[in-house]
Amino acid sequence: MLLDHTDTTYLISSALADEVRTGLTQQPKRLSSRFFYDAEGSRLFSEIMHLPEYYLTRSEYEIIDNYKEQWLRLFAADNRPFDLIELGAGDGLKTKVLLSHFVEQNARFSYSPVDISETVLDELTDDLRQKLPTLTVKPQHGDYTDALAQIVQRTASEADSTRLIVLFLGSNIGNFTPDAALDFYHQLSALLRPGDMLLTGFDLQKHPAVIHAAYNDRQGLTKAFNLNLLRRINRELDADFNLAAFDHYEVYDPERGEARSYLVSQTKQTVTIKALDMTVAFDYGEIIHTEISRKFTRQGIGQLAEQTGFSLSHWFTDCRHYFADVVYTKNR
Ligand code: AVI
Repeated sequence: MLLDHTDTTYLISSALADEVRTGLTQQPKRLSSRFFYDAEGSRLFSEIMHLPEYYLTRSEYEIIDNYKEQWLRLFAADNRPFDLIELGAGDGLKTKVLLSHFVEQNARFSYSPVDISETVLDELTDDLRQKLPTLTVKPQHGDYTDALAQIVQRTASEADSTRLIVLFLGSNIGNFTPDAALDFYHQLSALLRPGDMLLTGFDLQKHPAVIHAAYNDRQGLTKAFNLNLLRRINRELDADFNLAAFDHYEVYDPERGEARSYLVSQTKQTVTIKALDMTVAFDYGEIIHTEISRKFTRQGIGQLAEQTGFSLSHWFTDCRHYFADVVYTKNR
């Protein structure tokens, strides 16, 4: 961000500023969930992952723990070494189970965590170097596709037969609109070579009440997570959102398989965003759409592979069939 204080003038150029400028002048108002993850947002999300209602993390953990041996055989097929590239690695909580197992089995592999937060990557790398000193960790900072492009280039120059295995866990794909997901998977497919694999965690459609509860926890952590976006705008863009005047609301639409989260203005109010020289008026009950968390069917997951140059080759699920980790193999 470029922030230049010359008396009362701010020159702001940042992704958040652009998002706020366009999102809060639209009807309905909207802000992207990709801005949830400042330090406090990341901390709150780590807590959400332990909530009793938030089944996603536990379900995926169960899959990884149950199938880690099968995954190793799959990734290392034909005795080829592999590079495990994790998009949005975060604190690597679930992946550590996998990495420890692969290290114990003396697998020939390296781990390339990718994240847009350098702090997160540094912490993860330090932790792994302490806990798994023999593991080769090659952190890659940046936007997912740019980082993957660099890894692909690096691997090509190594001139070996390293298979690339891209992990995109946690149903992060659910936070993309259908068009954005298609576009993103087209980009990944263009970077990968035949036989490389993409393993995605998809949250599956299930009883709507189970999904609804996951985004309406009783402790109010999801509410705090959503409201933290306003706190971030107050801090980074010198705004005066009164957090107590906004509520969290989530709706799950089982026909579309979409959980949508909103912030709701509890009163008629005007907010000033000094850094953007902007005021925003809210009516009583007016919403800001902040997040979409899509839930998938097997058919939809198969179609996404077919439309983007992959074949759905393996399907792993937890005992309740709440979640699936699905391997797409890049077509020849
Ligand atoms: C990161 N992402 C997959 C989470 C989800 O379930 O959509 C973010 C989240 N939002 C509210 N709770 C968790």
